Amino acid sequence: MNILVTGGAGFIGSHIVDAYLARGHQVSVLDNLSTGRREFVPAGIPLYQVDLRDAEAVNAVLAAVRPEIVNHHAAQINVVTSLRDPALDAQTNVLGSINLLQACVAYGVRKIIYASTGGAVYGNPDPADLPVGEDYPLYPISPYGISKHTVEHYLFQTAANYGLSYTTLRYSNVYGPRQNPHGESGVVAIFTDCLLRGEPCIIFGDGTQTRDFVYVGDVVAANVAALERGDNGVYNIGTGVETSVLEVVAALEAAAGRPVAVEYAPPRVGEVYRICLDCSRAERELGWRAQVDIREGVRRTWASFAA
Ligand SMILES: NC(=O)c1ccc[n+]([C@@H]2O[C@H](COP(=O)([O-])OP(=O)(O)OC[C@H]3O[C@@H](n4cnc5c(N)ncnc54)[C@H](O)[C@@H]3O)[C@@H](O)[C@H]2O)c1
Repeated sequence: MNILVTGGAGFIGSHIVDAYLARGHQVSVLDNLSTGRREFVPAGIPLYQVDLRDAEAVNAVLAAVRPEIVNHHAAQINVVTSLRDPALDAQTNVLGSINLLQACVAYGVRKIIYASTGGAVYGNPDPADLPVGEDYPLYPISPYGISKHTVEHYLFQTAANYGLSYTTLRYSNVYGPRQNPHGESGVVAIFTDCLLRGEPCIIFGDGTQTRDFVYVGDVVAANVAALERGDNGVYNIGTGVETSVLEVVAALEAAAGRPVAVEYAPPRVGEVYRICLDCSRAERELGWRAQVDIREGVRRTWASFAA
């Protein structure tokens, strides 16, 4: 298949590019390299350094590539940034995605695979309701959660009106090799990097807050499955297991074979306290299930960062 991966120079997108190439697909990348890195894109793969907010440039990429599938990972990914500058977040994540969808319609794209968030769209669910399924009420508590979810509606209307199909994948907290440790999110990468540099890990709150940490290799497998399955479906992609930040610290200590120094800071505005995703729909309809648990995933992440 001829596939365009937006955000293909980033953490998750670049792993997807590798997997698609390994399966013999023809792959191109659209990325403005704001957080992505050119060296994550394999040599010889067309990399269009284009900003999603530039509709004309996005159209030109679609005209040149003529992809059958668009895998859409380019985004402003930072919850804290979205709180500080919601307009900027919406410009990239909403208006940029609209530009992309319009170009997909104009150039006859068959299917869009969209990276949404299961970590941010459900807000702070009642702990008794965890793990939450896709039909759980959506009350995002950050502009990022709102902007990522808004595009799900645009996908629905685009499919309804223009006949292309989509698969929306709502990831929980993704971690693994190539994650940027210098952002404000991505606790596994940040803590791994702090440990390597001999600096204490800062825990916001008391460390009992939980996330559903899913290894990037498992997320890639969902994106491979979505090439063939899951048309016009929305799927949670996580492990169904709640892991606290303190448990991440313990997994890192086990991986590194040394103690991790921690310091505590006040909880941050806009962050959910406990979240965990019910992923049984993905298992039934995509034939997908997470394979890597937190200890093994942290061990692999540590090994790649320390190499
Ligand atoms: N990392 C997670 O835990 C997680 C969880 C849920 C959803 N997601 C989604 O997965 C996708 C990839 O996230 P990631 O963690 O790999 O982050 P990342 O920052 O590594 O990747 C995002 C990529 O998009 C590019 N980009 C940003 N703004 C752009 C713009 N205006 N035009 C063109 N390219 C632009 C960046 O350069 C980068 O390569 C995002 O859509 C994110 O919302 C990530």
